[in-house]
Amino acid sequence: MTFHRLLRLDQVHEGLKTRFRIGRHELLLVSVGTQLFLLDARCPHAGSDLGRGTLTGYQLRCPGHGQVFDLREAGRPGQPARYIVEYDGAWVGVSLD
Ligand code: FES
Repeated sequence: MTFHRLLRLDQVHEGLKTRFRIGRHELLLVSVGTQLFLLDARCPHAGSDLGRGTLTGYQLRCPGHGQVFDLREAGRPGQPARYIVEYDGAWVGVSLD
């Protein structure tokens, strides 16, 4: 596993919704309140870009067919895959193969 920096902690703000590509991984980092969620950016229904979705609180609406995902449910069956957010000093990142 290799740690990949995504962005600095001082760049995190409420409502952040930013997409990253690391190798074959398409990631979406979302900030709600004091929580950060790191998801697969591709919708589990048909692969639309969740980075273009609409965020309302914890609810992320897919731009493809309108399915609404609760960020707190990510990683469960039928939900976007969830990655563990990691910290390294002033950086937010993720460890990937
Ligand atoms: S691609 Fe997301 S709801 Fe269909």
